[in-house]
Amino acid sequence: MTQLHDLPVYDPKDERTRRNPFPLYEQLQDQDPVHWSPALKSWILTRYDDVRHVCMGQGVSSDRLRPFYDALKDERRDILSGVMRYLNHWLVFKAPPEHTRLRRLLNTVISAATVAEMGPAIRDAFDHIMKGVDTGREIDFMKEVAELFPAFVILDMLGVPREDFKPIKAWSDDLRLFIGTAQGEADKYTRARDGADRMSAYFRELIALRRRQPGQDAISRMVLARDEGGMLSEDELVACCMLFLFGGHETTTNLLGSAVVALLEHPQQLARLHAEPALIDSAVEEFLRYDGPSNSIARVVAQDHELGGKTLRAGERLFAMINAANRDPRFFSQPHELDLGRTPNRHLTFGFGIHFCLGAPLARMEAKVCLGELVARFPGLHAGSHEPDWIDALVMRGPKKLPLVLA
Ligand code: HEM
Repeated sequence: MTQLHDLPVYDPKDERTRRNPFPLYEQLQDQDPVHWSPALKSWILTRYDDVRHVCMGQGVSSDRLRPFYDALKDERRDILSGVMRYLNHWLVFKAPPEHTRLRRLLNTVISAATVAEMGPAIRDAFDHIMKGVDTGREIDFMKEVAELFPAFVILDMLGVPREDFKPIKAWSDDLRLFIGTAQGEADKYTRARDGADRMSAYFRELIALRRRQPGQDAISRMVLARDEGGMLSEDELVACCMLFLFGGHETTTNLLGSAVVALLEHPQQLARLHAEPALIDSAVEEFLRYDGPSNSIARVVAQDHELGGKTLRAGERLFAMINAANRDPRFFSQPHELDLGRTPNRHLTFGFGIHFCLGAPLARMEAKVCLGELVARFPGLHAGSHEPDWIDALVMRGPKKLPLVLA
């Protein structure tokens, strides 16, 4: 962490912050809750109330992509127009009334009821993955379990054959070069465009197949979804498939990794969960709060306004730090303690307001299956030979590598 005029300064690239951002978040909450980060040229909000207001859309716009795209040079805009064609339909970037229409059509696609129906398939995906894991030796939990499980679940949900995971993952990684904060990749825009082209062609074919022969999968449900305003267009359908793949994969992977790290660091809580498996529901909520995967959400200031004695100008970028809010002592008692029985637990990890995570029931179910089974089967699970390595990201948080022994 760097200090400037005795005030804390947020720089997510700082090694100590990457490993453990929480001491800095606490300092910011106390000393500079509406903080200007020179490294990011953005506002950083860390208090629970401020983060919740941002989630509710107060004074901010969700469309952080369009201003960025419009500011690009013509040549880059041309390359990326094929990517924007789909991202323009993503719920996360939309405002009412378009958001309301899309959300209404999609609410039935992933609901608590459809997720409950998927329970046996989710358990089957977990068992399938665990069969391939050598439990007698040290593994990288991220690579061997946490990355595969949510990917298989989302593919199963969409009705995509698991064998197609490899190419889809490659296209998705290319597309992430634009959506994520990747730097230093010279050809990142052309790769993002190619990834989007290939992925959209793949989904177009699958959508055509489901139109002819609907099944029980989410693509079939989307194709059939209808309200008084009509149905989803072809481009909207493709865009939703892409969004589900994106939104539904890496976040859950990171949650599983961070939850295992939390258990390794709190052996008494691990023993508690083993002794009381019924605690799994509140345990998952606490893992989401304690060190969740949605480190922050990004917004653009919509109109000039005052916050915490600072003037936020229209067009400026803002990050509402969910993980900081989730440990704000003004809202949670003993916020730095992991308490698997914590109640109430009104964390903001799935957001709040109109953009509240559509996949929350699915993510919760996946976490319950994976973490519940791990603790039941391997009560002696312990850390491997190295410390976990954390991803270098501002919006996402989770371990990159997690050496683990399942015993
Ligand atoms: C632990 C796992 C997950 C976390 C922490 C998470 C977190 C979030 C957050 C914070 C938002 C709000 C973003 C914003 O306001 O800018 C969001 C929205 C969304 N999430 Fe998730 N998510 C998770 C899993 C999933 C899954 C499994 C899916 C789909 C299968 C999914 C699909 C979506 C969609 C479609 C939205 C947009 C909702 C809207 O704008 O109306 N998420 N998620």
